[in-house]
Amino acid sequence: MAANGNETIFTLEATPLKYGPGASEEVGWEIKRMGVSRVMLISDPGIVKANITPRIQELIEAEGIEVEVWDRSRVEPTADSFQEAADFAKEGNFDGFVAIGGGSSIDTAKVSDLIATHGGEIIDYVNPPIGGGKKPPSPLKPLLAVPTTAGTGAEATTVAILDIPDQRVKTGISHAYMRPDRGIVDPLLTMSMPSEVTSSCGLDVVCHAAESYLSKPYDERPKVDNPDERPPYQGANPVADMWSAKALEYGGKYLRRAVKDGEDVEARGAMMLGASLAGIGFGSAGVHIPHSCAYPIAGLKHEYQPPGYPLDHPLVPHGWSVIVTAPAAFRFTYDAQPERHRYVAELLIGEKIENADENTLPEILIQLMKDVGAPRGVRELGYDEGEIDQLVDGAMKQQRLLVGAPKEVTEEDLANILRESMENW
Ligand SMILES: [Fe+2]
Repeated sequence: MAANGNETIFTLEATPLKYGPGASEEVGWEIKRMGVSRVMLISDPGIVKANITPRIQELIEAEGIEVEVWDRSRVEPTADSFQEAADFAKEGNFDGFVAIGGGSSIDTAKVSDLIATHGGEIIDYVNPPIGGGKKPPSPLKPLLAVPTTAGTGAEATTVAILDIPDQRVKTGISHAYMRPDRGIVDPLLTMSMPSEVTSSCGLDVVCHAAESYLSKPYDERPKVDNPDERPPYQGANPVADMWSAKALEYGGKYLRRAVKDGEDVEARGAMMLGASLAGIGFGSAGVHIPHSCAYPIAGLKHEYQPPGYPLDHPLVPHGWSVIVTAPAAFRFTYDAQPERHRYVAELLIGEKIENADENTLPEILIQLMKDVGAPRGVRELGYDEGEIDQLVDGAMKQQRLLVGAPKEVTEEDLANILRESMENW
């Protein structure tokens, strides 16, 4: 027992997963045993075009289950796009949900399920200070998530991320009940992902794992008064560490291969599994500085048109918005946990490092960024030094995440990190 009033408890709540090439063929069997008879199948136009959605629909219908398809999930969801899906969900009288697609489709399904089950306005549930921080009073209807990108780990996490354009900020809804009830992870579904999408998604995986591993340990937080107040992101703990470590190992070993050759089934499979492993790790421990900075980087301007992404609206791909500040963030956090930073570096390169310092992990990350064609830094995504204050403001709004950093982060620290991140090489 900690005598200092600090937290003594952590939890690990993971989505039960089914993994392997061909696993998505069992989607009908899985949803049937979840006791569902009428499904809202949430997807996006790209996945429909790739003929994945009709196949999934067929497999579910073959089990005698009614299916209605919602295929208008946006790559970067907004409160409005969530609302449209939630209205459809409310009117449809569904008793279960299946999400097929990237993080955006899965997040859209989480929010549709939330509103269909408990009603209310989306903004009421959004994390404060932007939203009301309302908590769903009881579990949602069953949700089965089938990711088609190897990145967000959304099938394993308790959050849904959304863009609030009028406040020019991205934020989220997070609660343990938002976690999908089951996930089917099938690497064959990622084969058509363009290399830029693979790069961004894979770097997101690496950041989830590294930030989780390098988050403030759960027992350095003050103990909560009642279990309902224990945050979903609890800080580093021995169980989350295992998942994060394995994901780092996979990211270091397989991401370059998956980007270089999309047909490399072994590399695709490892990144897909790595995304879920990291999702379980960060669903428990949490992410902090790079993800906090990523929200304003992606939310403040909508000018960057990334290669390999749909041309319907400009956006900064999530993984790229995160990775650009990771080297400077981990240079800043190094002195809080030198040994753990060294271990993250070792996992990424797959060998022992004798003499590590604050630049070791940043240099390894920069090499990985170069090798997978990531942007050089924040400037390439459309910002200059004059906009650092605005970016800092946006990042400071993510206190939910920043409290998980292994040391205190001030506005000045964030400004320095963003300045150093203008060009990483
Ligand atoms: Fe992420």
